[in-house]
Amino acid sequence: MKTIIDFHNKKTKKEKFTMVTCYDYTFAKILAESDVDCLLVGDSLANTMLGHSTTLNATVNIMTLYTGAVARGAGDKKFIVGDMPFMSYRKGLTSSMTAAEKIMRAGAHAIKLEGGEGNYAIVKHMVGSGVPVMGHLGLTPQAVHQLGGFKVQGRDQKAQQKIKEEALRLEDSGAFCVVLECVPSTLAQEITAALDIPTIGIGAGPDTDGQVLVLQDLLGMTKGFRPKFLKTYFDGFNNLQSAFNAYHQEVVQGDFPTEKESY
Ligand code: KIV
Repeated sequence: MKTIIDFHNKKTKKEKFTMVTCYDYTFAKILAESDVDCLLVGDSLANTMLGHSTTLNATVNIMTLYTGAVARGAGDKKFIVGDMPFMSYRKGLTSSMTAAEKIMRAGAHAIKLEGGEGNYAIVKHMVGSGVPVMGHLGLTPQAVHQLGGFKVQGRDQKAQQKIKEEALRLEDSGAFCVVLECVPSTLAQEITAALDIPTIGIGAGPDTDGQVLVLQDLLGMTKGFRPKFLKTYFDGFNNLQSAFNAYHQEVVQGDFPTEKESY
């Protein structure tokens, strides 16, 4: 997928699609040659790349740095979405637009922001200024302290109604797509059916138009991290650890380097 029109077409043709987070040049080069449809430079880089326990520590400058690396790796092969970090779109129009401008100039083709209420005017303004906007509802990690933890959202009818209304209003405001994170499958299915724009799920069941996973989770790189929604496609932790240990072993045994690897 290369443009927001491709997102629209996927929805119209009822074709599922994939998004994976990516934060660096090397993985972007690998993903650029893969079948994965689009890349998200998620603010989850605060966790996966910087070791923080929440995404609150991602800043516009950090997002810009990592988005640039991903854009250089992906070339023009993949659609890249860059996350607007915590607070960067809640302090007024000018600072929100400056933040979006930096992330877009770094190489993103769209930005993603979390939440509905309070964001509709900025979404409209961004879209009207040529910045495609992806919404993000349900478990919105930037609001973790307000939500009382990383919990499934939309458990009761009132909460479900609110998420559905927010999705519809984001669509009305011009968003081209909405991520639904950790919500009951039935709610995700209902929202997906109600919207003309595609939904992308993570922990939202099988009925969203697309799915997204964090790269390190998909590759099984985070030891012991196995939430219910996650399926790993590689035993990254153990395979990488074995490679490091094999290298170490050969060096200490004197098996590497040999003549072959020497000048
Ligand atoms: O930052 C991120 O990785 C995300 C995904 C979980 C959707 O927002």
